[in-house]
Amino acid sequence: MKFVSVVGARPEFVQAAPVSWALRKAHTEILVHTGQHYDYAMSQAFFDELGAPAPDYNLEAGSGSHARQTAAMLIGMEDVLLKEQPDAVIVRGDTNSTVAGALAASKLGIPVMHIEAGERSFARHMPEEINRIVADHLADRCFCVSPKSAAHLAAEGITAGVYVTGDVMLDASLHHRELARTKSDVLARLRLTPGRFALVTVHRANNTDDPARLRAIVTALNTVGETIVFPVHPRTRKALELIGATFAPHVLAIEPAGYFDMMVLEENARLIATDSGGVQREAYYFARPCLTLRDETEWTETVDAGWNLLVGADCQKIVDAWFTFQPPDVHPPVLGDGTAAEKIAKILSE
Ligand code: UD1
Ligand code: UDP
Repeated sequence: MKFVSVVGARPEFVQAAPVSWALRKAHTEILVHTGQHYDYAMSQAFFDELGAPAPDYNLEAGSGSHARQTAAMLIGMEDVLLKEQPDAVIVRGDTNSTVAGALAASKLGIPVMHIEAGERSFARHMPEEINRIVADHLADRCFCVSPKSAAHLAAEGITAGVYVTGDVMLDASLHHRELARTKSDVLARLRLTPGRFALVTVHRANNTDDPARLRAIVTALNTVGETIVFPVHPRTRKALELIGATFAPHVLAIEPAGYFDMMVLEENARLIATDSGGVQREAYYFARPCLTLRDETEWTETVDAGWNLLVGADCQKIVDAWFTFQPPDVHPPVLGDGTAAEKIAKILSE
């Protein structure tokens, strides 16, 4: 069979690799990069490090308003699909690239396969929530991380073609972690002692585009005193400049980290604070306590397990939880067992 696989933003490059490897054992996969992320550190760096198959097409959609960016992707995607005539299109997650891939394919009558389906934050102000709902309802097959996600789909009437496979991001993490430990020198480079620093990421529109929320997060980071490594997303870099934010000397605001550096930082951090969906899950894979800088999360499994605490962008809550949040001793495998990509490839073959 012939599949067109769509990627465009940083987490999708990580998620795509295990599926590509599993799928290409028996099928043809054409990889389409929408061009949503384009800086070397946000895009090509991942293909170089992961040794993942290179994109066959780059639609070069770039940045823009939601409508402009998504429209550029739709136009480019339609041309590729008409030329390649695939048996199915694979999209993942909840980005504008996801929704563009799903919409272009379904309008051409090409079956849509959605990986990481059924996630819900129940916060419609998030562009990602709209993207997920649309992609799930257009999809012919929905691959879910956990029974919780399948239950969300069922509540919306989607029961056919739903499979619980686990999290492909866990597959990626398990696959690369040993190599990351060998290849990354980030601890030495930043003079970090394992277990004696915190790792922070922030990039959600809700946090970057609201000066009050962003200021509250910056104030909290400046207050806690512990060494903090903060790889800054380009969106956040711009937002921080706009509000004239400055960091205390214990906050190391660095360029976006490579995937191997990020894994080593996650594994060795005492604490992780983030608004990223991927980083919340990776915190869980590495059994690191996680403070989520949001008011809600899709990854409620990790909250229910006691390893993730929602602190919003509330300075006092963040500071209070920073040294007191203590996960339990038990750490159940709530995000799958690291074989999601193989399971997905097998189902796609059927
Ligand atoms: C997107 C996804 C989000 C995901 C995130 C992963 C949507 C609606 N959002 O958010 O779900 O969590 O990617 O990182 O799809 N920029 C650069 N260089 C780049 C990419 C972006 O400078 O390579 C800057 C541009 O100013 C751009 C801004 O970042 O306008 C936002 O980029 P965009 O891709 O629109 O959204 P993200 O915030 O990255
Ligand atoms: N990531 C990375 N470097 C960074 C920040 C994130 O390699 O500086 C990785 C992270 O480890 C995870 C993925 O990018 O694998 C998550 O992407 P991001 O946080 O941008 O998006 P989200 O998961 O929130 O959609």
